[in-house]
Amino acid sequence: MKTIQSFSTQIEIGDITKSTFSSVIESYSKANIIIIVDENTHDYCLEFLLTNFSALANAEIILLPEGEENKVMEVCFQVWETFTEFNFSRKDLVINLGGGIVTDMGGFIASIFKRGMNFIHVPTSLLGMVDASIGGKNGVDLNGFKNQLGVFNDPSHIFIDAAFLTTLPERELYNGYAEMLKHGLIADEKLWNDLIKIESDEALIDEKLIYRTIKVKLDIVEADPKEQNVRMKLNFGHTIGHALESHFLSFTAIAHGHAVALGICAEAFLSLKKKKITPEEFNVIETVIIRNFPMIQLTDEDITDVIARMKNDKKNNGKAINFVLLEKIGSAVININLKEKEIGEALFHLNLLGSALN
Ligand SMILES: NC(=O)c1ccc[n+]([C@@H]2O[C@H](COP(=O)([O-])OP(=O)(O)OC[C@H]3O[C@@H](n4cnc5c(N)ncnc54)[C@H](O)[C@@H]3O)[C@@H](O)[C@H]2O)c1
Repeated sequence: MKTIQSFSTQIEIGDITKSTFSSVIESYSKANIIIIVDENTHDYCLEFLLTNFSALANAEIILLPEGEENKVMEVCFQVWETFTEFNFSRKDLVINLGGGIVTDMGGFIASIFKRGMNFIHVPTSLLGMVDASIGGKNGVDLNGFKNQLGVFNDPSHIFIDAAFLTTLPERELYNGYAEMLKHGLIADEKLWNDLIKIESDEALIDEKLIYRTIKVKLDIVEADPKEQNVRMKLNFGHTIGHALESHFLSFTAIAHGHAVALGICAEAFLSLKKKKITPEEFNVIETVIIRNFPMIQLTDEDITDVIARMKNDKKNNGKAINFVLLEKIGSAVININLKEKEIGEALFHLNLLGSALN
């Protein structure tokens, strides 16, 4: 069991039955415990917790509809109404058992209700373990724009047990892999080199790699918890990634991790065009992304809408579209303003890859 204390959050990585989870929930024996799940974590993860922890016998279960299209205020309102009906109070405990959508939304729901309930995260997707549950960002989407409403607020505990990953669909493992690759690219060349050697799904379920990836994120978050400067590096791949994710949400939704992988490819292309990385470095990055993620085709209308969506990105400075670019593998620079024409070229390049490979 590895334990990390980061600000007010205790993070435990290892077998949850051997962690302090049991004593944490027992300390709420006089309070209500609410477990928030989505349809899949209800079916695949909940029983494990209920069977192993008798203190959860009377827990109330809140079921969220699965999928990014449901990461919205309307669903939160329904949950807050239920919390009100059940008379839940600030002293009660919310356990968010799920992927990044459940931890983002559950953290937000708990943070807002009665000005803040206690909450803990038990991430069950790889992306949730290495990224979404870490760093205190909670929130929901608004009108198709990602994470427009939210708060910074830390859970008291995060319990990361890779055993939950055995039921995670293969494509979801790769969505987590995208964020792991990003962590290596922006801050840890050795991690990147180890990650790109992975050749099987099983090798992705590796507590040591999960721990190293979390450490990269924590080091950055601890230096800049409210994203005033260096934390922006974590958004590498996300300016284009989020815009692609939002654009496709209403028709053929693409998962967050997949969108980030495409964003990494396009933003590495921009890093090359700005002469920040070498052609050799770009080729390695592009090859890794192509090998592990499906490429997509983009029409001119798609490209126009994706660029329009980037103008609403939270990281922008006034009207300019603000990027994080790589200056080498293992190091990133923030606040690079790019012109729409340059961004269009990167999206055009993505489309060429999609057309060539499909
Ligand atoms: N807060 C942050 O800092 C942060 C960082 C990165 C991403 N995010 C957010 O995270 C979300 C993406 O997270 P995600 O990829 O985990 O998506 P997700 O929560 O939708 O989970 C992916 C899929 O896997 C299922 N699932 C989860 N655990 C499972 C298990 N153990 N067995 C079987 N099925 C399981 C889910 O039901 C879902 O269908 C996005 O909304 C993104 O914006 C937040």
